[in-house]
Amino acid sequence: MRDAAPETIYLSDYSPFGFVVDEVTLTFDLHPENTRVKSRTAFRPNPAATDRTFFLHGENLKLINASIDGTPVAPDVSDKGLTCDVPDGPFIWESEVEIDPQGNTALEGLYMSNGMYCTQCEAEGFRKITYYPDRPDVMSVFTVIINGPHPVLLSNGNPVASSEGHAEWHDPWPKPAYLFALVAGELIAHADTFTTASGRKVDLNLYVRPGDEGKCAFGMQALKDSMKWDEEVYGRKYDLDLFNIVAVDDFNMGAMENKGLNIFNSSAVLASPETSTDMNFERIEAIIAHEYFHNWTGNRITCRDWFQLCLKEGLTVYRDSQFTSDMRSAAVKRIGDVIDLRGRQFAEDQGPLAHPVRPESFQEINNFYTATVYEKGAEVIGMLKRLVGDDAYATALDLYFERHDGDAATIEDWLKVFEDTTGRDLTQFKRWYSQAGTPRLKVIEDWADDTLTLTFTQHTPPSAATPEPQPLVIPISVGLIGPIGDEVAETRVLEMTEASQSFTFDGLAARPVASILRGFSAPVVLDHDLNDTERALLLAHDTDPFNRWEAGRTLARKSLLSMIREGTAPDRAYLDGILAVLRDETLDPAYRALMMGLPSQSDLATALHDAGEVPEPDLIYAATETMRAAMARRFRDVLPALYADNLVTAEYRPDAEQSGKRALANSALALITRTDGGVQAQAQYGAADNMTQQLSGLANLIRADRGSAALKAFEAQWKNDRLVMDKWFGLQVIEADPEDAADVAAALTDHPDFNWKNPNRFRAVFGSLVMHHAGFHHHSGKGYQLLADWLIKLDPVNPQTTARMCSAFQSWPRYDDDRKALITAELDRILAQPTLSRDVTEMLTRIRKA
Ligand code: ARG
Ligand code: ZN
Repeated sequence: MRDAAPETIYLSDYSPFGFVVDEVTLTFDLHPENTRVKSRTAFRPNPAATDRTFFLHGENLKLINASIDGTPVAPDVSDKGLTCDVPDGPFIWESEVEIDPQGNTALEGLYMSNGMYCTQCEAEGFRKITYYPDRPDVMSVFTVIINGPHPVLLSNGNPVASSEGHAEWHDPWPKPAYLFALVAGELIAHADTFTTASGRKVDLNLYVRPGDEGKCAFGMQALKDSMKWDEEVYGRKYDLDLFNIVAVDDFNMGAMENKGLNIFNSSAVLASPETSTDMNFERIEAIIAHEYFHNWTGNRITCRDWFQLCLKEGLTVYRDSQFTSDMRSAAVKRIGDVIDLRGRQFAEDQGPLAHPVRPESFQEINNFYTATVYEKGAEVIGMLKRLVGDDAYATALDLYFERHDGDAATIEDWLKVFEDTTGRDLTQFKRWYSQAGTPRLKVIEDWADDTLTLTFTQHTPPSAATPEPQPLVIPISVGLIGPIGDEVAETRVLEMTEASQSFTFDGLAARPVASILRGFSAPVVLDHDLNDTERALLLAHDTDPFNRWEAGRTLARKSLLSMIREGTAPDRAYLDGILAVLRDETLDPAYRALMMGLPSQSDLATALHDAGEVPEPDLIYAATETMRAAMARRFRDVLPALYADNLVTAEYRPDAEQSGKRALANSALALITRTDGGVQAQAQYGAADNMTQQLSGLANLIRADRGSAALKAFEAQWKNDRLVMDKWFGLQVIEADPEDAADVAAALTDHPDFNWKNPNRFRAVFGSLVMHHAGFHHHSGKGYQLLADWLIKLDPVNPQTTARMCSAFQSWPRYDDDRKALITAELDRILAQPTLSRDVTEMLTRIRKA
């Protein structure tokens, strides 16, 4: 229902709940349309609180009965929850409600997916299961009884009893309601064990639907690797005798860290060489690690309120990126993360949805599971570590775990641990948590008397969220490369705290080229006016792998921008520099593959907008195509060997080494296809025994305009595999010509397997359309209109997935007047719907305000 004016929640209004919950027992009698949930909850007055209003959250619940200390009561029920008079001292609250899991298409609370029951409670889904103080600072010990005719009945913690149709679970660790989980269904367990460093033997299970047993081995190995890594690197051991993961087909997000019972989108856990790409494997490994790491950073130490979301998410993303760096290539991981940050977080920070890493208000918290909270939140932790050093970081983390175990904590608690262990004052650093916007960092060089002076100026563009940004603490990693390519000064971290500040390097024999922001040491936009020769020197010789890649990327961006603006030819120096990199066989193939990438079309649009210009998607697309064609010509001599040498023929392994080679071979194939009309792609498609090569073969065939037979064959081969069919849906949109993309997407929505209520399938089509910059922004407006039609259709069914997809429109203010008019008309059309979820209302209102 449309909230006339959805309520806004403020960080500054926090106050503790008036009661403490010592324990809760939930009894579920499962039934698809009318599941009964009994709760028995022990409350007592909270000595730390003054307000004793007894309010329990509850939504879409049918209250059957309620009692206090055994005496029936008649609470005051609204659509948000209930209030009731309660005794002065401790008391037992009991209630019984009826819910409808089958009718729950929003996939929040208890719902059904392919005949199985499952839950998603973060952030505020538990209130759709029973009446309860659904807030993360209320932590309690849960006992769960499940009655249902399913062979597998799961909840958090340890099993205490089970018989046919009945199971009882007890979780000894107090937890907030958002970490509650229940699963019931006909599932198969892929089982294994892990023994912790202290000798605790932990049973591990990955539960899947019959038919998916063959896709479990990799996820299980990733889990064991994660458990070991967290012991070795953070000293964190697992704390139950059982750890379960369940794969679910209908899921709004990637996965969820429920205590002892992680629930995963099947796309984020199921993998096999035949059905998953190398990128899928890497992502799955990272998400398994992420959810597992939450057991300490999120579960043992949770958040006081949802404004503190980055406390667990930023830290856990940071931890999973460290894990991936250790398991694979640190340089490749860092570059991938920066590409992602620029594509998603910078875009968010520069548009109407900009918000600080710790927001100060929201209407719907689900709208704040953003790239800013997650990815910029992780960058902030990386900066903190860079500033204090690795050892001090380790000491601070030990104290964090010791001091706050069992707490619902805040960003203040987190920073205090660093202040107490290092003696630093982090008052200024804390602005990273409270200010929105991507800082611009400008550097000017001065060379005199053997001394290089770097003068930095920082400027954060004001936004609605942060009208008056203040100077930040910025760690700037700098090294110096001499004129013949030798490193004359190793990496040093400059700590910038002023709006403008100079640093000197003296005793230099000749003027060096400064390699600035090594490792992307801060999430800023760097403006460093090097000439092309200097950049070419860094591209050839920088010892910092990130900045070496960045030099190539900057040359590419500059060349593309002048191609777009002035119609110039692709830059020779750039092409020659990349060619030299490709020829260098000492370089990791994965790294060389990254060097062949170009800035995304939407990144180019952002760069033009930043320069005060209006991006034209068709010109950006054309320039990118021209550059690709130039690369195909310039690299022609090396491409066949690059392809042949890196086409792995050994038995498939999804590790860094093999996947790096396949990435390089596939990058070569994409250029070869531009000149051979798809002959090589056809050969690869026909011979492939793994999805990485099959899918890239197919993509290149589509690009060469000879994809139709392969698309049919692919569909026939994989029609029963949901995850592979998602790729089939998505690829056709991604690879379509700009003028066709919206039509291809529209046609796919008529396909019998376009199950639009499944978030993965919906995103396969529309997420791909949105990613197709020139296709989505086609001047006809048909891309905008199609998406708006489907958002209107999906919102009543699944507000959360609809709201996330709304961010496709966030960049509208940067386009030309015609496109602006087209987009705002669609925004207004959606906003004019008679019923609109709170999720979508908040998103579109924020976007529209720009
Ligand atoms: N905590 C989960 C994770 O990051 C994400 C859950 C998000 N759920 C939501 N409804 N927004 O792993
Ligand atoms: Zn997380």
